[in-house]
Amino acid sequence: MSKKSRKTILIWALSLLPLLATMIAWGFLPEEIPVHWNSVGPDGYADNSIIWLFASLGAFMAILFTILPLIDPNGKNYQRFIEYYEIFTLVVVGFFAIITGIILSESFRPGQLEVGLLIVLMVGLLFLVIGNLMPKLKKNYFIGIRNPWTLSDSDIWNRTHRLGGIIFFVFGLCLTLWALMPVWPWLIYLVSALALVTAIFVPYIYSYYCFRQKQKREQTVAAKETDDAAGLSEVMKNLLERRSIRAYTDEVLSHAQLEQLVLAGQYAPSGKNLQEWHFVVVENREVLGRLEQLIGKALNRPNYNFYGAPVIILCANKKGARNAMADCSAALQNMMLAASDMGLGTCWINQFRDVWEDDEMNAYLAEIGLPEGYQVQCSTIVGYPAQNPEAPARKQGTVTYVK
Ligand SMILES: Cc1cc2nc3c(=O)[nH]c(=O)nc-3n(C[C@H](O)[C@H](O)[C@H](O)COP(=O)(O)O)c2cc1C
Repeated sequence: MSKKSRKTILIWALSLLPLLATMIAWGFLPEEIPVHWNSVGPDGYADNSIIWLFASLGAFMAILFTILPLIDPNGKNYQRFIEYYEIFTLVVVGFFAIITGIILSESFRPGQLEVGLLIVLMVGLLFLVIGNLMPKLKKNYFIGIRNPWTLSDSDIWNRTHRLGGIIFFVFGLCLTLWALMPVWPWLIYLVSALALVTAIFVPYIYSYYCFRQKQKREQTVAAKETDDAAGLSEVMKNLLERRSIRAYTDEVLSHAQLEQLVLAGQYAPSGKNLQEWHFVVVENREVLGRLEQLIGKALNRPNYNFYGAPVIILCANKKGARNAMADCSAALQNMMLAASDMGLGTCWINQFRDVWEDDEMNAYLAEIGLPEGYQVQCSTIVGYPAQNPEAPARKQGTVTYVK
């Protein structure tokens, strides 16, 4: 059974469990059951029918989380964090199952559990999990920190969620530590209140700050372009302005754009004009993910990734060919410059040559269409840039003019 279907079964089982437990306990429940506690035990009661409300919350959440990706205009983005979305659903459903369990237990044996601390511990753990999952969320309309600025730009969304994740994690840690070692309650109240205010306001303010930064960057680029336009040719400008881009938006590239890039590659010089290269253009997210995973595994870099780019172009050549790397490098540079001219970002990705000996990678490359006897010499990711880095300073003293 796949991991995904195992998780789905677990989600539904966990969401139905409180309903089943309530059905069994229903005939034996006292007429009034505890719903509020102080430090020594229950101090608030309600009619026992309220238990059905708590017991059905998990199932309600499971249904809601199943529907959201189907109705979200950014629904396709959920596939990019579906694994974490399922973990999140599982944790929320589990949270409500435990709450129902606590109420049932306290209905039969009031005061047995330290409910106040248990709830703090559970909320703390919930925030720890949310803090961990937050940076993995991709832009969508329902889950995460959604405001006009995060929804306007994938880069702002990602940066805000990275910061939000840290804040939620720290908040969760404070609550969890306090539940496990409940000393100095005043201090933990203070820290938790501060963390809560921070968790609510700081990501909002930060996303606006990122938005302003982006606006300023765009204005600077526009001004620079006007300045530069005076002296340099378009080709020279493009050459100087190409940068290695390591953050991308979600925007997909059209087939026509990709064909144009490959054409630029095919028109590069090649030794003896052999043109022995072969380009593999990967636009499929699953294939991109699998390539990242295989490189990560082979190089022992579990978090290895292609910076979120929607496309990678592999440039391969015949194994052992004298000019294999030189020819591919010339083609790659042509494609990178063409991309830059089209307003796209690129970054050279060098790791394929480090995994030439990896059998699993070689089998997978063959499966996706790399011809027999070819080796990936170099590659570039391509996409719409979500950053605008400065050019690194160029070293001095690297030229000798012989007159
Ligand atoms: C042969 C070669 C290999 C590179 N490999 C990588 C790489 O694996 N990952 C990466 O992020 N950048 C890689 N780069 C990009 C360089 O880091 C980048 O070109 C350099 O920092 C200068 O920045 P610029 O391209 O914006 O001018 C590579 C560049 C070259 C020429």
